[in-house]
Amino acid sequence: MRVVIVGGTSGIGLAAAARLAGDGAEVVVTGRSAERVEAAVKQLGDRAAGEAVDARDTGAMRELFARIGRVDHLVITVTGRGPAGPLRSLTAQALVEAVRNKLVPHLLTAQAALDVMAPEGSITFVTAASAGSAFPACPPWRRSTARWSPRCRAWRSSWGRSG
Ligand SMILES: NC(=O)c1ccc[n+]([C@@H]2O[C@H](COP(=O)([O-])OP(=O)(O)OC[C@H]3O[C@@H](n4cnc5c(N)ncnc54)[C@H](OP(=O)(O)O)[C@@H]3O)[C@@H](O)[C@H]2O)c1
Repeated sequence: MRVVIVGGTSGIGLAAAARLAGDGAEVVVTGRSAERVEAAVKQLGDRAAGEAVDARDTGAMRELFARIGRVDHLVITVTGRGPAGPLRSLTAQALVEAVRNKLVPHLLTAQAALDVMAPEGSITFVTAASAGSAFPACPPWRRSTARWSPRCRAWRSSWGRSG
């Protein structure tokens, strides 16, 4: 079983990679920093490989999946740090950055992988608890991947087995 974890060089992604590799999966972890990729692969052991790719670069992500080949499961844990605060202090730039750094890489990574996903494969989007509840410090624009479940169901029905 081959699992690709985009954003798998630290935090939740790295922990998931360690668990999956420990269970016998072949794991491929990615992140922007080549140093962190190298350190993660070293930590994960023989069943791991890694590549430094920015998930916001759609062309590079397509090339990555073409190199990897068949993927059984794809986990996307790319994080997009952004400012928190009330609506009054929101700027257009902050809003665009929040979407650009999280929503865009999550969606376009999934799209880039469609042609190599195994028929019974899965795509997991790691979002945040704030997607389902209201936290004062985490207003709606921070939740750029909020409320994904209905959207995922819609994508699944539109892409069928190809996505
Ligand atoms: N930590 C929490 O308590 C928590 C709770 C709920 C939800 N979440 C969500 O879970 C996800 C992961 O959180 P985390 O705390 O585990 O984050 P993290 O430790 O900061 O890890 C983020 C990973 O994504 C990579 N990454 C970030 N931007 C990228 C990009 N543009 N292209 C490719 N890789 C990129 C990072 O590597 P590079 O920086 O080298 O690219 C790193 O491997 C996030 O979406 C977060 O919102 C976290």
